[in-house]
Amino acid sequence: MRKKIIAGNWKMNKTVGDAVALVEGLKMDLAQGTDVEVVVCPPFTALQAVGEKLTNTQIKLGAQNMSSEDDGAYTGEISHTMLKDLFVKYVILGHSERRQYYKETDFWVNKKVKKALEKNLRPIVCVGEKLEDREAGNTEKVVEAQVRGSLADVTAEQFENVVIAYEPVWAIGTGKTATSAQAQEVHAFIRGILRDMTGEKAANGLRIQYGGSMKASNAKDLLSQPDIDGGLIGGAALDARSFIDIVKAGM
Ligand code: 13P
Repeated sequence: MRKKIIAGNWKMNKTVGDAVALVEGLKMDLAQGTDVEVVVCPPFTALQAVGEKLTNTQIKLGAQNMSSEDDGAYTGEISHTMLKDLFVKYVILGHSERRQYYKETDFWVNKKVKKALEKNLRPIVCVGEKLEDREAGNTEKVVEAQVRGSLADVTAEQFENVVIAYEPVWAIGTGKTATSAQAQEVHAFIRGILRDMTGEKAANGLRIQYGGSMKASNAKDLLSQPDIDGGLIGGAALDARSFIDIVKAGM
């Protein structure tokens, strides 16, 4: 059985004060742990303050990006050492917003994924097609290239620490959720690619989150699909009540 994982991607939102207020709200219901693994991914500037609030809770801390390099002259970048210093456990890599606005390619996502795994950070690797890809019937082709490219050279043992997030770009922040059947179809397809890449056992153990306008009202339906093992939540993670309700839908 795969333990469901619900992660909040706060994106470029929340000052330190706002972030602390949000995490205090989450702790009321989620601090003691649930059947669902809960992760919050604040912006870098709030990682330390949020991390301090999460001490002695079951909620885990994640970052939204990471450099592929160890240290040195890389202005504006954040390294694995800096993240681990703040007790970060997960790191979102290859989010479609990074791919789209900052031109991150599978090559770079793969470098970051390998670095994260080598340094014992768990990557949440994002893949997903654009609307034009779906309309042209290219969803599987695009998603397969991203999965294979982003996870190239990852070993079977390392695969145990990988989480994949399927986020159709047309569903992100648009209010248009993929139907649970549409999402399940792609999730099952991704698991098939993983079987081919790393074998039956690792593929069956690997968690694949859905992301894209997931909210309390559609979470139960999505999370009850056989290959949907959690959610990566944007907008609905910015409010404690709505995020808690999504986590509860996964229990
Ligand atoms: P929304 O939930 O706001 O659609 O964002 C999804 C997302 O991009 C999470 O990484």
